[in-house]
Formats: sequence, C-alpha cells, structure tokens
Amino acid sequence: MAAFCFITALLLAVSLGVHCSCPPSDRAALLAFKAALPQRHLSVFDSWTGNDCCRNWYGVNCDQQSGRVADISLRGDSLPSSSAASTTGSISPQICKLTRLSSIIISDWEGLGGQIPGCISSLVFLRIIDLNGNSITGVIPADIGKLSELIVLNLADNSISGTIPESLTNLGNLKHLDLRNNKISGAIPRSLGKMKMVSRLLVGRNEISGDIPSSIGGVYRLVDLDLSENKISGAIPELLSKLRVLGTVNVGGNKLRGRIPEGLLKSGISYLNMSHNYLEGNIPDVFGGSSYFTVLDFSYNNLKGSLPRSMNSASYIGFLDVSHNHLCGSIPTGSPFDHLDDSSFLFNDCLSLHYFRLERHLPLYSFLPTTLPNNALHGPIPCRDIASPGYPHYGLALLIRGPIPESPGFGYTQVELV
Ligand SMILES: *[C@@H]1O[C@H](CO)[C@@H](O)[C@H](O)[C@H]1NC(C)=O
Repeated sequence: MAAFCFITALLLAVSLGVHCSCPPSDRAALLAFKAALPQRHLSVFDSWTGNDCCRNWYGVNCDQQSGRVADISLRGDSLPSSSAASTTGSISPQICKLTRLSSIIISDWEGLGGQIPGCISSLVFLRIIDLNGNSITGVIPADIGKLSELIVLNLADNSISGTIPESLTNLGNLKHLDLRNNKISGAIPRSLGKMKMVSRLLVGRNEISGDIPSSIGGVYRLVDLDLSENKISGAIPELLSKLRVLGTVNVGGNKLRGRIPEGLLKSGISYLNMSHNYLEGNIPDVFGGSSYFTVLDFSYNNLKGSLPRSMNSASYIGFLDVSHNHLCGSIPTGSPFDHLDDSSFLFNDCLSLHYFRLERHLPLYSFLPTTLPNNALHGPIPCRDIASPGYPHYGLALLIRGPIPESPGFGYTQVELV
C-alpha cells in the first residue's frame, strides 16, 4: 500500500498536485482512537470525516512519502476549554496500528484516563510521546526502551504509578524526560548513565526512593535535573559537579544526607535547591567571583557553622535561603546580601543581624515580633524605628545585644528575653 501510494504520488504530484490519501487501515485506527474518547459537548473530532484522514483532519498529519499517519497532535490547552474538560475515555490500543507514527501529543485533557497502551513500544518510529497533563493511570510500558528513536518522553502531571523501567535507559537518543508529578515509586535505574543525550531529567514530585546513581556522572549533556519531592536518600554525588552544562539542580524535599559537595558550588550550576533534606556540615567556603546563583536554597537541613565568608565575593545571589538550620555567626555584608529578605536567615541557632539590615528592612515595629524568632540580634538599633508611635508590646523571642537607643517615644527601659 505504502509503495503504491508513493508511486501514485510521484506520478500525480507534478501535474495535478494530488496528495496521497490515507490508507483505510490508518483511517480505521484513527476512528477507533476517536471512539475511545467520547466528548460530551463540542467535539474536536468534528473534522474527522471523509475517507482521507490526511486531509483536514484536525490534529492529524501524514508523512508525504509513505502516505501514512505520522503525527497526532491534540493539545487540550489550544482547544476551547469545554472541549478538553468534557473529554473522557482513554487512549485506544488501536493507535498501535498506526505503525509509522512519529509523534503522539495528547496533552491537557483532564478527563483522559486509562493506561498507556503497552503496545506503544512497538511503534519504533516514535520520536515524541507527550501525554502531559491528563489523568492517565497504570505504568510506563516495561519495554519502552525499544523506542530507539525517541527524543521526547513527557508523561508529567498524570497519575502514573509503578517504577521507572530499567529499559528506559536504553533510549540512547532521548533528550527530554519529564515524569514529574505522578505516583512513580522505586529507584532510579542504576544504568542511568547510558542516556548520553538527555539534557532534561525531570522526575520531581513522585515517590521515588533509593539513592542517586553515581552513573549520573555519565549523562554529560544534562542541563536541568529535577529530583525534588521524592524519597531519595543517600548522599548528593560529587560527580554532579563534573557535568559541564548542568545549570539547574533541584533535589529539595528528599531524604538526602551527608555534606554539600563543594564542587557543586563551584560548577556552572545557577539554580541549586537542596532544601528540606537532612544535610549536615558546613556550607563550603568556596564562593568566588564566578559564583552566580539565581537560587540557592539550603533551608530546612541540619547545617552548622557560619555563613561562609567567601559568599561576600559571589558576583550574584538572586535568592538565598538558609533558614531552619543550625547556623551561627553574623550575616556577611555586601552586595550579594543587600537585597535579601530577612526570612532567608530565620530559625537558626544564633545567626545575627547587623545594624545595616535593621535599617534597611525596618519598620522595626512590624518586623521584630514576627520575623526574628530563634535568632539573636546584635548591633545598635536605629532609634527612629523603635520610637515609632503605637509600637505594640509583644513578647519578643529574641536577644538584643548592644546599645538600646533612648528616646522619648520608646517606652521600654529594657528589652527582655522571653
Ligand atoms: C526548593 O524546594 C522545596 C522543596 O521542593 C520547595 O518547597 C521550595 O519552594 C524550593 N525553593 C525555591 C526557591 O524554589
């Protein structure tokens, strides 16, 4: 059929501009696919009429040479909202009869449930699978690794369970893996390092356990790593800092232990989120002129010691959060810190705020009682702020060292530690 199509196309293309019509078997498969997606209201499938599924069928594209259906692209977010929301049903296994499919994009259809047909792994021409934002359940097909041409696998924002199949690491051309926000459990496959082309590895918000395989050091094109909000344990591999183009690392909200690898703070990573783990030790004193961070989140760990002096020399820290640790000492001054909010430093054992911070961030009367619990405060307090009329009496859970300004408006002779 395909050969016939091709010849017909060649013969007719020049004189008539006729294109090859869709093979009846492809048309039947599409109609079965459609039948498994009942729509209560306005239907996106209204255009799916007539014999030629390659002509004007919404979201269907055919390959010019083979005349076969090559792409299905049905994005709920580009349709009237009633249409996407009113769709129910599931992806029919009949889709696997479209053996020349190169891309399947069925995204943002809230009502689309069911499982990913296991036979999808026989569609060896697939380059893109994007089923983001549906209500798909079940597991990732165990032999997904057969899809050697696959470049994009996006199953994010569904209810997929089971584990990440070991075979997935055979996808040697995969660049973009997004499994975020599902119910995937089990460990990250040991052989992760086989995926040489992956640049985005996003598995955040699942139930993944085990540790981060050291073979991740082999995924050397990795740019964006999201392992956040899982149950991942063990240490953060130092090897991550060997990945030259890695820019974003989010391991927040796991069960990671051990120290912060020094190398990570010296690499090209600009977004680093390690919050909500059990990390210990000091924040490595390795910042310098080339340190450029949009986000540096160390909050909710067991970090000790003081803030590293070298942080002062960082060229940029857009957002810093070291709150909820056991840090002590003073907060360095200088440009990397001036713009930071006080909440960045709260709930430590004895981090102190300097005069300049008070002056910058006051009015003190709104700020003292609510935002400084469990921190010590030292340095002179600017008079005008404390003297503000109506300064209410709060039980201040803070320690003030240094002179307390005297002024007529300041009705307290001493500040007590409560
Ligand atoms: C860091 O990750 C934690 C846990 O996922 C999250 O709550 C927090 O908002 C993230 N921080 C930033 C700055 O995005």
